[in-house]
Amino acid sequence: MANEPQVEIVETDVLVVGGGMSGTGAAYEAAYWAKAKGQRVVLVEKAAIERSGAVAQGLSAINMYLGMRWGENVPDDFVHYVRNETMGLAREDLSYDIARHVDATVHMFEDWGLPFFKNAEGRYVREGRWQVMIHGESYKPIVAEAAKLALGDGNLFERVFVSHLLTDANDPNKIAGAIGFSVREYKVYVFKAKAVICTSGGAVNVWRPHAVGEGMGRAWYTVFNNGSVYALPSMAGAEMTQMEHRLVQARFKDGYGPVGMWFLMFKAKAKNAFGEEYEITRADELQKYAPYGTSRPIPSPLRNHLMMLDIQAGKGPIYMRTDEAMQAMMEGKSPQERRTIESDAWEDFLDMTISQALLWASMNIDPAKTPSELVLTEPYIMGSHATGSGAWVSGPEDVSPSEYFWGYNRMTTVQGLFAAGDGAGGSPHKFSSGSYTEGRLAAKGAVAFVVDNPAAPNIDQGQVDKIVHDLYEPFRVYEQYKDATTREEINPNYFLPKMGLLRLQKIMDEYAGGYGSNYGVNGPTLERGLEHIQMMKEDFPRIAARNLHELLRVWETWHRLWCGEVHMRHLLERKETRWPGYYYRLDYPQIDDQNWHVFLNSRYDPATGAWEFKTKPYIPVVP
Ligand code: FAD
Ligand code: ADX
Repeated sequence: MANEPQVEIVETDVLVVGGGMSGTGAAYEAAYWAKAKGQRVVLVEKAAIERSGAVAQGLSAINMYLGMRWGENVPDDFVHYVRNETMGLAREDLSYDIARHVDATVHMFEDWGLPFFKNAEGRYVREGRWQVMIHGESYKPIVAEAAKLALGDGNLFERVFVSHLLTDANDPNKIAGAIGFSVREYKVYVFKAKAVICTSGGAVNVWRPHAVGEGMGRAWYTVFNNGSVYALPSMAGAEMTQMEHRLVQARFKDGYGPVGMWFLMFKAKAKNAFGEEYEITRADELQKYAPYGTSRPIPSPLRNHLMMLDIQAGKGPIYMRTDEAMQAMMEGKSPQERRTIESDAWEDFLDMTISQALLWASMNIDPAKTPSELVLTEPYIMGSHATGSGAWVSGPEDVSPSEYFWGYNRMTTVQGLFAAGDGAGGSPHKFSSGSYTEGRLAAKGAVAFVVDNPAAPNIDQGQVDKIVHDLYEPFRVYEQYKDATTREEINPNYFLPKMGLLRLQKIMDEYAGGYGSNYGVNGPTLERGLEHIQMMKEDFPRIAARNLHELLRVWETWHRLWCGEVHMRHLLERKETRWPGYYYRLDYPQIDDQNWHVFLNSRYDPATGAWEFKTKPYIPVVP
């Protein structure tokens, strides 16, 4: 253990933080444009990009593909879909922008060797209107390889966790770089950059998960995404939007296997313990949420809402009737065709959620004979799936109204700081392919920004020295106090990151509408929860680390804590329940279109520590 790390300076034009789907997309695209402009592009990733992020295990579908070459959809169709899914609150300029480019990205994946399911005419096999099926176990290594080749030697920094962004010494609203520490060596990297693209994934394990103790590592979204994509820009003073729009998913119980293929392709039904299909028996409830509730598909939060009503009425457990669906599909089929159906059912999980297949095997579940329990997950903060949390970013100049445009595509309100994927707010349903596409769009914007702003960033050395010193403080705390007890985990002077994480998860579950509170919140509960968050922040200087791995956990917990605070502040501010099924503001249980059909944006002021909230108009960009 070292008291002070070795410091390495890396100078670059564009810095990509995170090497997941949007990060590899950003690196691939930025490197292309940068070559022509003589710029350097560097990517920094906390893990190893070949198997990092939400796609590490692989995926079995690409959930955003329009199929324009076959006349299947046009970008306007996608915007209509997203508008309804978000109960009327999406940045339509951003969704449109991704929609018009996403097919080209998907075709590139195929050129690089990603295998697609195809029908007799050579078209991609559709799971649903927007989703196509892939044999996607190696999806991530394929996109990682392209990023590595594009970046070139010496420009990829793996096993480095970015903890802080740096702003310009002369202009606090301009980016100057980032700081990260190695999780393998006693080394801190100071990245000096003219533009930074933040792509570091959503926030998981902020709330107490269903699986605790030995099962704590099992959640639906990847547990290695700890909210850096929200904490980093927010701490640097960027405006954030939709941070209250958290995601709760209907998933196969305990293994968290995704449900899309079962619902959309296998036409399986979710039914309660009494065999009733809540989407039919509770159809009247949807009328209350017209026009969203009466459009199809039923928006994701409302599907959850109907399921919750059934559970609260004592009709659980809820089951996915895989048995009925598979038997219907197999009827009249040859043994060979039956075998194909069966292997598709298993491959859905083996490609992306292996634990679900293991769980089925270990619980003697044959999906063709036995239904499987469904549950609603703990909440996640995400911007790429069925919710739109993230930074408030500029849209493209040819589509965005002036309220949504300030110069460079996907630039946040901090000059030179860009965001994509889970990190760019207001444009959900981009998934893996849309996130990659958005990374590409942000990269093009970032390179253009550097062309227009070529001066080297001004680094405030005092700010850097303080951050570097603070990063290793948990080691010093441990060294100072470790002899106060005989058991390292319990100490009157410090707490370890696992304890910190459990404390945060308890606060969030009880005060911020976790599953343990039936996803319900009200004003006073949130205010009390924020007091608990404040006390935890005050205690944070007493967190200790015994090794580099725990140091990583310390700073991950700090980012999660930040996400929890921003989320609660947003929940408190939005005085309506826009997304029943994701959360309930019990003191404002209705949707209030008159006052709240607007985006809610927050800004943390790093100079004063004050929070400011404002609303931004919702402006439709397609008819
Ligand atoms: P990610 O791809 O998760 O990348 C974030 C990256 O940032 C990671 O590499 C992470 O290690 C790195 N990182 C995080 N913090 C830091 C830090 N502080 N410093 C440095 N690096 C950091 N999409 C589909 O299209 N089809 C599907 O079938 C599908 N199924 C899914 C199934 C599961 C089980 C999951 C978990 C996701 C699924 N998705 C699917 C969604 C898709 O994976 C995401 O939408 C997409 O990966 C989001 O891209 P991103 O770049 O924002 O985040
Ligand atoms: S995944 O990202 O982990 O694969 P999931 O399996 O839930 O998520 O969804 C895959 C796709 O199917 C997403 O585009 C999702 O919105 C869609 N989907 C899932 N269930 C339904 C449903 N019941 N009706 C319509 N669309 C659905």
